[in-house]
Amino acid sequence: MTIMTFQEQIKKGIPTELPSIKKYNSDINHAPKRKEILSKVEKELAIRNALRYFEEKHHSVLAKEFSEELKEYGRIYMYRFRPDYKMYARPINEYPGKCEQAKAIMHMIQNNLDYAVAQHPHELITYGGNGAVFMNWAQYLLTMQYLAEMTDDQTLVMYSGHPMGLFPSHKNAPRVVVTNGMMIPNYSKQDDWEKYNALGVTQYGQMTAGSYMYIGPQGIVHGTTITVLNAGRKIAKNGEDLAGKLFLTSGLGGMSGAQPKAGNIAGCITVCAEVNPKITEIRLSQGWIDEKITDLDELVSRVKKAKAKKEVISIAYLGNIVEVWEKFDKENIYVDLGSDQTSLHNPWAGGYYPVDISFEDANEMMANEPDLFKNKVQESLRRQAIAINNHTAKGTYFFDYGNAFLLEASRAGADIMAKNGIDFKYPSYVQDIMGPMCFDFGFGPFRWVCTSANPSDLEKTDVIACEVLEELKKNSPQEIQQQMADNIQWIKGAQENNLVVGSQARILYADAEGRMKIAEAFNNAIKNGEISASIVLGRDHHDVSGTDSPYRETSNIYDGSQFTADMAIQNVIGDSFRGATWVSIHNGGGVGWGEVINGGFGMVLDGSIEAEKRLKSMLFWDVNNGISRRNWARNEGATFAIKRAMKVEPKLKVTLPNLVDDSLLQDLF
Ligand SMILES: NC(=O)c1ccc[n+]([C@@H]2O[C@H](COP(=O)([O-])OP(=O)(O)OC[C@H]3O[C@@H](n4cnc5c(N)ncnc54)[C@H](O)[C@@H]3O)[C@@H](O)[C@H]2O)c1
Repeated sequence: MTIMTFQEQIKKGIPTELPSIKKYNSDINHAPKRKEILSKVEKELAIRNALRYFEEKHHSVLAKEFSEELKEYGRIYMYRFRPDYKMYARPINEYPGKCEQAKAIMHMIQNNLDYAVAQHPHELITYGGNGAVFMNWAQYLLTMQYLAEMTDDQTLVMYSGHPMGLFPSHKNAPRVVVTNGMMIPNYSKQDDWEKYNALGVTQYGQMTAGSYMYIGPQGIVHGTTITVLNAGRKIAKNGEDLAGKLFLTSGLGGMSGAQPKAGNIAGCITVCAEVNPKITEIRLSQGWIDEKITDLDELVSRVKKAKAKKEVISIAYLGNIVEVWEKFDKENIYVDLGSDQTSLHNPWAGGYYPVDISFEDANEMMANEPDLFKNKVQESLRRQAIAINNHTAKGTYFFDYGNAFLLEASRAGADIMAKNGIDFKYPSYVQDIMGPMCFDFGFGPFRWVCTSANPSDLEKTDVIACEVLEELKKNSPQEIQQQMADNIQWIKGAQENNLVVGSQARILYADAEGRMKIAEAFNNAIKNGEISASIVLGRDHHDVSGTDSPYRETSNIYDGSQFTADMAIQNVIGDSFRGATWVSIHNGGGVGWGEVINGGFGMVLDGSIEAEKRLKSMLFWDVNNGISRRNWARNEGATFAIKRAMKVEPKLKVTLPNLVDDSLLQDLF
């Protein structure tokens, strides 16, 4: 048999002859078995749906095989069709095709599935337990084939991982339009995801998983560093830094794993509990944590020592976070900053492990006794809340890390509600930190990827971005000086901190002006040959404008509109006709299915004059849309920022709110 090259395999798509069966590889991190939710008739429908991708001659073999997968894993991943070639973001010129933009998208897709990047690569899950790029391997193969054959006047339409096909469009249209998990609103409960995902008709795209924009842990290290730094500034009594202060949290997974590194960069002592031994080992071997401790008494004495010596250190506790909150309370270990990053957006399927049950037993229980498991999770959340309340009574600053901890704890009946019965006792990190300090001013997670895959290109972009920010800072208003300074410091240390895992990517927080100026400078550098290939621009959906999420991104919107999703929808529509190369809009992500609508974009810069026009038009909208809405919600910083934007761009005219004197409202009802 002749061996096909990488390019030939991509162009072939779904092979006409069945590839040999793949052995289930236990060395790799796999998605937990999903709950059995389909009836007999629905299971038959799931098989019928899966077989649509294959010629009839293979159906009898595959029907049996897929039914086994459904029984064994709760989903049909089509493991047999996982390609043999290495999965990673190759230099752009190694991809087959007729369209540069499509090749850049292939580069991004392969990065999201890279073993070094993805959480459950064989199940096509990039992060967050259920953040899928595709539902199965047939979808991957078909999508790559379409991208390899598409031209500059076609658009690929992606329905939740399924490539519906190529449609005629035009050069300035997006090359790909992605929707993930879009449901009729009444069908957006967690069990709806379980059911319709098992049927193979929808997927949970998280944010940057199903939109091909994940850049490994770096993205989150930056955001988390900004959060911990600013949380530290909030609790500082005399402007002191975080030296000798303790940050207690949980999770060493896809995003949560960034906490210890961010704690180190911010200069505190971090204790992070994690129940999964494999993940803890990975983080230790990657150097993302300094020490691992498995015994609670040992943890207490180690933390005491670190406090006494004001060490900057990150410690993983292999065990349940509830144990640590309770133990530190009993032993009177003062926690300065507290949070939680278990995956409570996905509470019943492996996102949260209840205390007093071993990791293995919990995995069995969630699949075989889901009702009992749910009770145990809720009991554990109530215990965790009691222990946290004890700490905050002593002065700990606790914030919700956008993982639906407070939401699920409240649903479990934990003592977590404020006196008014509407709000939670504790703020989310967006309410207190990200919202008023960053998003309202337009600062958000701007990122770029060098498709040459060459580290020296990335190095050049770091220098360019730093120069642009330093120049802009000279004339920036006082209100954003701190943000500018933090990000200049970040980009200066980026090379040294060795943050790249997977593609040659970088992130920093910038406002509309910063993003546009940096992008323009990159485009010029490509034009004059200083940078060797196209750059993909993008952002995390966790941003100013792209996401409506009342318990996270829009939790600092207080005019009642935090439960609407007009902003995210407007954003993705606006991006798509202003020059995005691909756009995506998702249900779920971060805080859970049905709890958030979020969107993003990718934009390929190729040094052309068209790219320059596109970046200016789209980035200006992509940031100022959200600022205008935040301003309308009466957020002071946003009103400041939108007035500033209107001065720069006379074609921008935004409705400003009139503020009402509180005393007028007092005796009205
Ligand atoms: N980092 C951020 O900036 C950020 C922002 C917004 C939201 N989040 C949210 O944070 C959550 C975590 O994200 P992730 O990508 O790391 O998810 P993940 O599933 O990869 O990691 C969560 C980890 O928590 C561990 N865990 C679960 N229950 C535990 C318990 N009781 N004690 C100790 N460890 C436990 C799991 O084993 C897992 O490794 C998600 O809900 C995500 O949406 C993170």
